[in-house]
Amino acid sequence: MSNNIEGKVVVITGASSGLGEATARHLSAQGATLVLGARRTDRIRSLADALSASGGKALAVATDVTRCDQVKRLVDAGAQTYGRIDVMINNAGLMPQAPLERLKIDEWERMIDVNIKGVLYGIAAALPHMKRQKAGHFINVSSVAGHEVGQGFAVYAATKYAVRALSEGLRQEVKPYNIRTTVISPGAVATELPNTATDPDSADRVRKFYADVAIPADSFARAVAFAISQPEEVDINEILFRPTRQEL
Ligand SMILES: NC(=O)c1ccc[n+]([C@@H]2O[C@H](COP(=O)([O-])OP(=O)(O)OC[C@H]3O[C@@H](n4cnc5c(N)ncnc54)[C@H](OP(=O)(O)O)[C@@H]3O)[C@@H](O)[C@H]2O)c1
Repeated sequence: MSNNIEGKVVVITGASSGLGEATARHLSAQGATLVLGARRTDRIRSLADALSASGGKALAVATDVTRCDQVKRLVDAGAQTYGRIDVMINNAGLMPQAPLERLKIDEWERMIDVNIKGVLYGIAAALPHMKRQKAGHFINVSSVAGHEVGQGFAVYAATKYAVRALSEGLRQEVKPYNIRTTVISPGAVATELPNTATDPDSADRVRKFYADVAIPADSFARAVAFAISQPEEVDINEILFRPTRQEL
């Protein structure tokens, strides 16, 4: 029986580590073809090689999601090489948390550029392919911080609320094209994400919190597989999950 994952062409931004990498490995093991984007090309190339060596199909394309042209190139390369785009996972993101009064304006801009505009560029790149196909699936990565605003997380939370708003707007608009839309909001998952903080107090607090409660990245990969594997007429719109021990 088909798992509704086998043979699908899945584009993942931020595939060089953490949730993106774990998802690429999990979906490849289930027969998906992967198109991997990130800035660290050494990492996505060796991931693509490893997936191919295990019998999978994968392509690595250097991608900075703050560049609309580069996200388009990533998606178009997938469509040209494999003939279609079935799933677009807008996953790239960063979380340099700090209280607003520290005025880390560069980091605010970076989060807006990567976490919001990067998702919009992913939509812009994949939507024309999916409209033409009259089929497709967007999976956008929000966060528990897209539901709750923790101290020091104002800007990060704002970007993740925005991802949920965009996903819901997209969901309503793409009905005529038979496109599914899922937003996934993870709690603390063990990845390189806490390393993006530069404010020493906040970074220390978040690292300790993650060391205490974070769960492995394949928890996210399984949530992605669950959403994709549903029959085409079933659209899983929101998944919110946390470590069992996480309070906020
Ligand atoms: N881990 C958690 O607890 C958690 C919880 C909720 C939500 N999330 C969300 O999950 C997503 C993935 O994060 P992660 O936890 O897997 O962290 P991670 O291990 O730090 O991975 C982040 C990924 O984003 C990519 N990235 C960052 N800036 C980019 C840019 N300008 N262009 C292209 N790629 C870029 C990185 O690749 P390069 O540096 O190679 O470009 C990397 O592959 C993020 O959206 C994050 O907000 C994570």
